[in-house]
Amino acid sequence: MSTDPSASVSPSSSSRSDTLLGRLAVDQKLCTSDELSDCLALKAEFESENNHRSLADILVANGYVTQTQLSRILKAIEEQKTFQQIPGYQIVSKLGSGAMATVYKARQLSLDRMVAIKVLPKRMSENQEFVDRFYKEGKAAAKLNHANIVAAYDVAEAGGYHYFVMEYVEGKTVYDHLVDSGKPYPEKEALKIIIQVCRALVHAHAQGLIHRDVKPKNIMITPDGTAKLADMGLAREAGDKEVALAEAGKAYGTPYYISPEQIRGEVNIDFRSDIYSLGATLYHMVTGRVPFEAPSPAAVMHKHLKDDLVPPDHIVTTLSAGISEIIEVAMAKEPRKRYSSTSDMLADLEAVARGEPPLLARKSYDLTSLAKMEDEAVTLTQENGANMVGFEEDKTIDLGSKSLQQRLSDPLVLGLLGALVFAVIIIIIELSVILSSKPH
Ligand SMILES: Nc1ncnc2c1ncn2[C@@H]1O[C@H](COP(=O)(O)OP(=O)(O)OP(=O)(O)O)[C@@H](O)[C@H]1O
Ligand SMILES: [Mg+2]
Repeated sequence: MSTDPSASVSPSSSSRSDTLLGRLAVDQKLCTSDELSDCLALKAEFESENNHRSLADILVANGYVTQTQLSRILKAIEEQKTFQQIPGYQIVSKLGSGAMATVYKARQLSLDRMVAIKVLPKRMSENQEFVDRFYKEGKAAAKLNHANIVAAYDVAEAGGYHYFVMEYVEGKTVYDHLVDSGKPYPEKEALKIIIQVCRALVHAHAQGLIHRDVKPKNIMITPDGTAKLADMGLAREAGDKEVALAEAGKAYGTPYYISPEQIRGEVNIDFRSDIYSLGATLYHMVTGRVPFEAPSPAAVMHKHLKDDLVPPDHIVTTLSAGISEIIEVAMAKEPRKRYSSTSDMLADLEAVARGEPPLLARKSYDLTSLAKMEDEAVTLTQENGANMVGFEEDKTIDLGSKSLQQRLSDPLVLGLLGALVFAVIIIIIELSVILSSKPH
């Protein structure tokens, strides 16, 4: 079979788009090259009668291609046209696409190296404010130099497309891993990854750059286990809330990791939003569940604002108390109750990875009650033989990582209490029956 079946047809009867369309239809085995030739002959016949019909039309009319298949092919053609419009790069393949853009693997001809190019849809060029931000943030990101950040090389425009050239990372995202394995990460492995991402954030935050979209899809893991935070400094078209809503229906979309202040549409977002999202990402990694699940993005966001977090060690009981504490502090609804710096969070993550308690998790709490809480927690921890100290936002008594109040609301504990009460009632009834039936 010819690699370009439409080549046999004279160029005058076949436009460039038809050539591409025909090649893709055959490549995707929607029709054979003979069938394609028949369609092209039909097209030429129509044209001779001054009846101009597109090849797409003829393919659909003859039942070779469905409308859905056709729109997919037309999209691919549009992409191929984009490739040729980025000078200096040779597109190799498509790496994936997200809510906002498509990412391609490409060869940078001048340096003969692989890069990843994120191409934004054309409609985005119409929003001048967005375009300005895209360049400003892209340039800021290009100044970052960190082993755990996907390096930004360039931002530019060609043929009406704005694009972002970055380091090509071979490997899978944390999201891919969660989906493929279908189970949570072991605590140690999750910590290894999150510590690297936290280091990346310490570096970015020190330069005044906030990521705003930390999530499993934006963490790539190389074959040697290095974690790379992607999309650093990538400006977004709309506000965080609008972006989140635009992702309606997408599993593992942004609303699962977005901070309450981003949901409220606050303008002055700071590093603490990234801390919240990093905590939410870690939550998903170690429990296999997103922190707040609901049928619609709006409902998920409502839960971020209002619902109490189910402590991660209530879901996976083998988790250390320390990792749960870190997640709970990072995901406090009020930014002031989270870590007061990204390096504080890093210090706690590193401590837990060494098997020590996360001491700084308690820093944001009132010092007086903290001293009291510490005394109680240390005593209880010693009694329990545990080596981790827990904390609770509502300052109830600590029992490892779980408060008395939380334990009482645990369905298992509630069940046991119910069974106990039931047993006591039965014993009382039995006793009264025995006593009343005893001969006097
Ligand atoms: N630098 C890179 N190197 C290699 N692959 C990449 C790179 N950046 C992104 N990708 C791949 O491209 C895919 C799409 O990335 P993109 O940032 O457009 O969307 P996303 O982060 O997956 O989702 P969303 O649009 O919801 O933020 C990623 O899932 C990843 O597989
Ligand atoms: Mg991304």
